Amino acid sequence: MTDGPGRFASNEASPPPTARPIRSFVRRFGRITRAQQQALDDDWTRFGIDFVPVRADLDAIFGRRAPRVLEIGFGNGEQLLASALADPARDHLGIEVHRPGIGHLLLGAARAGVSNLRVIAHDAVEVLDAMIADGSLDEVRILFPDPWPKARHHKRRLVQPAFVATLAAKLAPGGRLHLATDWAPYAVEMLAAIDGCAALENEAGPGCYAPRPAWRILSRFERRGLGLGHAVFDLAARKRG
Ligand SMILES: C[S@@+](CC[C@H](N)C(=O)[O-])C[C@H]1O[C@@H](n2cnc3c(N)ncnc32)[C@H](O)[C@@H]1O
Repeated sequence: MTDGPGRFASNEASPPPTARPIRSFVRRFGRITRAQQQALDDDWTRFGIDFVPVRADLDAIFGRRAPRVLEIGFGNGEQLLASALADPARDHLGIEVHRPGIGHLLLGAARAGVSNLRVIAHDAVEVLDAMIADGSLDEVRILFPDPWPKARHHKRRLVQPAFVATLAAKLAPGGRLHLATDWAPYAVEMLAAIDGCAALENEAGPGCYAPRPAWRILSRFERRGLGLGHAVFDLAARKRG
């Protein structure tokens, strides 16, 4: 049977609205520079992994079996590139949706000739569910995720108990989760999510924040937070087992 005209006549109930997923980002169509666009055109095949809803064979993609660091929401990618260069024994995967930022990273990655870095340009929630096998990551980093300060937007925050449980599942035993934020109320939520996740152990102890790690460089968003007089909170947890 097909839906003909008049199927939803005025005296019938309206069709239910299509449920749209709650995203932790809005697509910002900010200006992309010519160089960033060029990097997306020229270097995507070298560094990019297209989103497809099947498990990715990361050993094949990186061409070796090595511990893997995942950074979610890498912004312009400066931290991810710095880490890939400083830590060649581990492979570095980044997930981001902001095209100018991805272009910026690809420019730097191509110039540096780095071989242990790959990027997926898609919603990290869907990437983790579909493409990343459980127990396959050595470390996950989420640095200065969008704070969504308005109460009606809190549901958009990326770091929530269910997502932390997903991240814990993707970590190998002994693997680490590192979070940072300059938004104090979000830090409190992150702490509760980590302390409430049975699979994770807060390295600083329950209810405590971690010291700033030596590897974390000053990002644009951190600099902005510090300029506004915000304190910065780091959180570090280890997967039990
Ligand atoms: C506030 S910025 C921080 C960027 C960077 N980590 C830094 O410290 O400069 C948050 C970034 O997370 C990205 N983001 C938010 N939700 C995401 C998601 N579900 N998947 C991928 N990227 C996401 C945004 O596009 C944005 O670039």
